[in-house]
Parts: sequence; structure tokens; C-alpha cells
Amino acid sequence: MKLIFCILLIKISSIIVYSLKLTCDFKKSSLGKYQLHYKCIATDFDVQSSSQELNEILGTHKEDKTNADIDTLIIKDKIVKYLPKNMQQFLPNVIHLDLNNTGLKIINRNDMEMFPKLKHLYIRHNHIEELPYGLFDNNKQLQFINLNDNKIKQISPNIFDALSRLVSLNIERNICIDSFAMGDDEILKLKQQIQIQC
Ligand SMILES: *[C@@H]1O[C@H](CO)[C@@H](O)[C@H](O)[C@H]1NC(C)=O
Repeated sequence: MKLIFCILLIKISSIIVYSLKLTCDFKKSSLGKYQLHYKCIATDFDVQSSSQELNEILGTHKEDKTNADIDTLIIKDKIVKYLPKNMQQFLPNVIHLDLNNTGLKIINRNDMEMFPKLKHLYIRHNHIEELPYGLFDNNKQLQFINLNDNKIKQISPNIFDALSRLVSLNIERNICIDSFAMGDDEILKLKQQIQIQC
């Protein structure tokens, strides 16, 4: 009896681990003159453990749109301590990822690898302590990075070097660094400052 209960419990917990769903409020919006964005604004998303895997996107798409049309993912004021695995399967074309104020603790190379087309990354006001080795190796399109107001105390050397399109890097209000850079010259100076301080 005890054994059956145990097996049942393991079964249930494995279902919980793997059945992460993201519920979206879909919005079409024009940002700037020519670009039309298709956004998923997360209305229900809760990620408290590091081993979760996305397996469904819920919500009613606009007209003929599908998940592949989503270029903007906004998760604001929801709890996302870790990015779930497998997001690229449902969100292959994200160029704008907005994770401000979600309690995000860790971001690593595998997480970033899920978003190869990313241009804008906003992770403002979170709990990140480290930017690990190779973090942006597969995000060559990145233009804007905002890590303002985290707890960063360690940055692996050269992680920004391959980002030739970078326009703006904001790492104000962190532990080892408190700076903002815009344009090639300032970014170069900031990278040198990071190498010394972090
Ligand atoms: C997140 O922060 C960035 C940088 O300040 C800002 O441009 C963006 O609008 C914020 N996102 C949301 C959804 O408030």
C-alpha cells in the first residue's frame, strides 16, 4: 500500500514538473513606423523550479496568427525564477524578450540559446548574480541589453565580445558594476570597466 502511494506520488510530481503552460494575451501592435509586432503578454506563468519544461501555449490567437508569429514575449510581474526549457519549440521567432521584475535568479547559455533571433533583452529588476561563460554566444543579433537593478557580482570575461550589433548595454545598479553604455565607444569602455571590476 505504502509502495503504491509512493509510486503514485512520484508519478504526480513528474507530471507537475513537465506540464508547464504559458497563457498569453495576444496583441498586435505597431511599434515605430514600419514594424508590426505580435506580442504574447503572459497572463499566467509561474516558474519556481529549475527543471521545468514548457509544453503548451494557451490563449486565443488573433486572426490567422500562430505561435511562430510571436516576436515579442512579455512576462511582467509574474514569478519566473528560472527560464523553462524547450521554449524555442513554441516560440521560435522571439526578437524581444521582456522579463522585468519576475524574480529571475539564473540565466545561462542554454537559456539564451533558445532565442537565437533575439535583439532586445530586458531583465531589469531581478535577482541575477552572475553572467556565466558563453552566455550570449548564440545571440549574435542582440542590440539592447538591460540588466539594470540585479545583484550581479561576477561577469565571465569576454561575454559581450561577439555582439557586434550591440547598441546599448545597461548594467546600472548591480554589485560589481553600476554603469550604462550607448554606442560603440561607450560600450568598449564599459567592457573594460567590467573586466576590471567584475
Ligand atoms: C522593461 O524594462 C525596459 C528597460 O527599462 C523598458 O524599456 C520596458 O518597457 C520594460 N518592460 C515592461 C513590460 O515594462
